[in-house]
Amino acid sequence: MSTTKKPNVLIRNTTPSDFDGIVDLCRRVYTNAPPWGLDQLASHHRVFPEGQFVAVEPDTNQVLGMAASLIVAWSDYDMSTNWREFTGHGYFTNHDPEGKTLYAAEVMVDPNTQGRGIGKLIYKARRDLCRRFGLKRIRAGARLRHYSRYADQYSPEDYVKKIISREIGDPTLTFQLKQGFRVIGVVRDYLPNDPASQGHAAVIEWINHEATTRADWAKRPPEYGKPRKKHEHPPNT
Ligand SMILES: CC(C)(COP(=O)(O)OP(=O)(O)OC[C@H]1O[C@@H](n2cnc3c(N)ncnc32)[C@H](O)[C@@H]1OP(=O)(O)O)[C@@H](O)C(=O)NCCC(=O)NCCS
Repeated sequence: MSTTKKPNVLIRNTTPSDFDGIVDLCRRVYTNAPPWGLDQLASHHRVFPEGQFVAVEPDTNQVLGMAASLIVAWSDYDMSTNWREFTGHGYFTNHDPEGKTLYAAEVMVDPNTQGRGIGKLIYKARRDLCRRFGLKRIRAGARLRHYSRYADQYSPEDYVKKIISREIGDPTLTFQLKQGFRVIGVVRDYLPNDPASQGHAAVIEWINHEATTRADWAKRPPEYGKPRKKHEHPPNT
């Protein structure tokens, strides 16, 4: 799948008038899971309005995509922390403006408009946000959306290695690797109620070169399945 034509959408910060459209979007994307609650969306908007995005059809304001993020101090968490803890049970009440990591809690695009570059534009908005706020990185748990199809063949760890080496594709992780992320770990029980991934996720990271120092790079976890590089440092130094 390759996206060539620029989609006719506007990416902007979410406002309360988008909440009903987001709930409808959730129902179209995740047919077996409860949508975001209006109280949760209101909480995201209250604690970190700049971190919430929608992709809308410019004339009608119909919500075609959304992304929800918060800032965390990564050292307060373990790599194996699950989604509920990273997101304050979905309310983002753990948002920490002093943190340096944007935690990408959610991204979704309407199934009728997927594959047209909307997800890509949403991630561009997230990277711009990071630069504007001087954050060092974006991290997220990428649910291994097609893992259940391969569970009898591969462990989650081997499944991730095969995606990294492009032997197989996963609709979520392959998309995220194309957005400049790299995998730094694999966690089990990240989303315990997600049958498609059987709960497994890859922890992924995108680095903001503008805000990272040599010391940050020295502490950076190695790319998953690969030995630590000795002299890794920002490309501009
Ligand atoms: C993942 C998701 C947000 C991608 O959004 P999208 O608008 O379809 O993605 P785009 O059209 O912007 O695609 C960007 C790139 O990713 C690639 N891509 C997108 N979906 C893909 C798929 N299913 N398989 C392989 N590659 C894919 C595109 O080919 C494109 O590559 P290119 O830059 O080389 O052209 C969307 O599929 C979605 O909402 N999925 C369901 C919800 C979900 O799983 N969210 C993630 C939670 S962790």
